[in-house]
This record gives sequence, structure tokens and C-alpha cells, in this order.
Amino acid sequence: MATINPNYDKLAAGYLFPEVARRVGVFAEKHPGAKILRLGIGDTTEPLTPAVVAGLHAGVDRLASRESYTGYGDYEGDPPMREALARIYAQRGVELGLDEIFVSDGAKPDSGNIQSIFAADNVVAVQDPAYPVYVDTNVIAGRAGRFDPVTQQYDRIVYMPCTAQNGFFPELPTQHVDIVYLCSPNNPTGAVATKEQLSGFVRYAREHRAVVIFDAAYSAFIRDDALPRSIYEVEGAKQCAIEINSFSKIAGFTGVRLGWAVVPQALEIEDGGAGKLNQLWRRRQSTFFNGASNVVQAGGMAALSEQGLAECQGLIDYYMRNAAIIRTALEELGLDVYGGDNAPYVWMKAPNGMKSWDFFDKLLTEAHVVGTPGAGFGPSGEGYFRLSSFGHRESIEQAVVSIRENLRL
Ligand code: MLT
Repeated sequence: MATINPNYDKLAAGYLFPEVARRVGVFAEKHPGAKILRLGIGDTTEPLTPAVVAGLHAGVDRLASRESYTGYGDYEGDPPMREALARIYAQRGVELGLDEIFVSDGAKPDSGNIQSIFAADNVVAVQDPAYPVYVDTNVIAGRAGRFDPVTQQYDRIVYMPCTAQNGFFPELPTQHVDIVYLCSPNNPTGAVATKEQLSGFVRYAREHRAVVIFDAAYSAFIRDDALPRSIYEVEGAKQCAIEINSFSKIAGFTGVRLGWAVVPQALEIEDGGAGKLNQLWRRRQSTFFNGASNVVQAGGMAALSEQGLAECQGLIDYYMRNAAIIRTALEELGLDVYGGDNAPYVWMKAPNGMKSWDFFDKLLTEAHVVGTPGAGFGPSGEGYFRLSSFGHRESIEQAVVSIRENLRL
């Protein structure tokens, strides 16, 4: 008799974004005439750039003849793709070997799957609030313990509060943990870690023989050149950190799917010397995954060409202009607003001490604008709210006009 993985029943709620979509669906059904302005999920909306489209077409064309057809590629990704990624890191002074880069179908699968190479009793620390994948995948793996509905926390996860008081970057854990998830620029708060802040976690990880899983999916949105785009810009990080990144937000690949993980050879853990985690991740990927799509990698290579990078910068600038429009409008209304300057997410305090989901309903009902409730990202997100800048300019502009005119503060 088959039985289920009982850890699924420990998940506290449905995945955040389907729940947002469900509530919006209910509202839309009740108000069929309402024009709903979606600033909820961080999903790109602008078309792929010309260089990327040409790269994808060329990838398809190569599959159309016997001479150029290819089947399975390297599990780790096409070598030219890994070389191109290594060149991008080298521009920031980070030297990576091609055997340290693993091309994948996106940062979400990588950030969910990476926990599988660690022991089931490892203690996990997360920024609170955090991208829900980090906690949920550890719940499913049996690492999280019991959910307490009062504290809204799992009893084996260490929550590192990110609040207005600490600039939305956490203090170091006061106890021992084995795995630390950090995301910078942060989803959802839009805060960006400085080199000094990351150095503190690198020192902690090396002292505790812990591993930092660094989600850099939004690094291309950093405008301030003094801020690190990769944790490997910090001395000693190769000994203790795995980094995950993505083409989704850089090149509009949310539907196309392409990302990469860096697992350095120098990375060491308690019971495995240098190279062990790299070897385990290679083993994991070659067992569960047949490599990223060859067509998609052709598009990704085009995005990393000189023309592609310039065009993708245009996309990033477009979304960052959207973020500035949202941020300015909310500030003009006297709201407490964070992020949006080196990150595509604007994080705001819900007005008048409102709870996140109450503000979600209010914003939807009064202004027909969809955002994401901060509480959905963890207990410290309660009372906060996230707006995404990944919409078309006209929806962003309509959303801020509607907020200004219709939201009763
Ligand atoms: C978000 O809105 O947080 C992102 O779209 C989630 C994701 O990239 O999976």
C-alpha cells in the first residue's frame, strides 16, 4: 500500500502565489467589469529582446538538420554557456572553474532542490521574511519540525528577523545552524546586503562549518557599484557558500526557464572535504535532470553576448523606472516605503497598523490593485506588503493613479 510523504501535510498553507491568484479570481468573478492591475507576483511582462529571439531561433534551426542536430547535452550545461557565465563573474573579480557552474532550468528549482544534498537533521536558518521556497522545501524534506499557528513558525527552523530596525538585514544567529539561506537583493524586502554584512555571515559559516545558500536572482538590478552582486566578492565565501542565479528577471526568462548554480570546489562541510558538495550536486543533477534545454541555452548565450547584455540592461532599466514610479507615489502618500532602488520590489508598511492580508483585500477592493501580503513570506512580514515592478509601464502608471485616487488612508 502506497502512503504519502507526511511532510506535505505539515505545510502551513498553500503556496503563496496561487493563494493570491485564488483571491483575485474570487474578486474578479464578483466584479466582472473591474480592471485589475497586477503588481503581485514578480513575473516579467516585456517581450524577449531581439538578440535573444534570434538566439532562440538559431537554436531551433540547429535542431532541424542532421548535421547540426544535438540530443542530450552536458548535465552541467553547454561549455560555452558556462564560459560566458564565468566571464561575467570574472568582471567582478571572481574566478570560477567551469566545473563549478551548473546550468539549470531556473533559480526556483535550484533553491528548492539544493537542500537534498544535506542531511535530514541539519538546522536551517532563513531570513524572515523570505522567498517561501526555502522554508517549504525544507518542510517537505522533514527538516522543519512542527508548525506553531500562534508564532507562525516551524520549531526546527531558525528565523532571522529582517525589520525596519535592522535595515531588513538579519543579525547573525546566536545559536549553531548548518544551512543559512540569504537572498540579496532581497525578495521580498528589496534590501541589498553590503560586503560587510555578507562578510559577517561568511565568518559565521566558516566558524560553524555551515553553508550559506545565496540567492542572487536579482543581482542585475543593483545600481550601486559598491554593493556586491555575488557572495564570492567576499573573501572566504568559496569555502562556505553556494550561489544561485537566474535568467528569469534579467532576460525575461520566467516562462523560458534558465538559471545556474555555483558550487565551488573549495566548499567544505563537517563530514566532507573540498569538492564533496560539488560532487553531490553533480550526482543529484545527473540523476534527476537531463540538462537545460538546448534551445533555451542558445537564447541564454545570446542574452550574454555584448548586444544581448546591452538589451537586457534596457529591460532592467525599464523595470527599475517602474519601481521608482511606485516608490515615489507611495512616499507622496506618506507611507513607509523601502526597497525599489537596487531591487525590483517595493516593500511598504501597511497603513494604520493593518495586517498584510487585510491590506491586500483593501487595496484590491478600493484600488483594484494586486500586491503580495508580507505575512505570506514569514511572520516578520506581517504588517508589510510587497509591490512588484515587473508590469507594463501603463499598468504601473494606472495602478499608482488608482491608489492615489481610490485608496482610503
Ligand atoms: C516572486 O514574485 O516572488 C517571484 O516571482 C517568485 C519566483 O520567481 O518564483
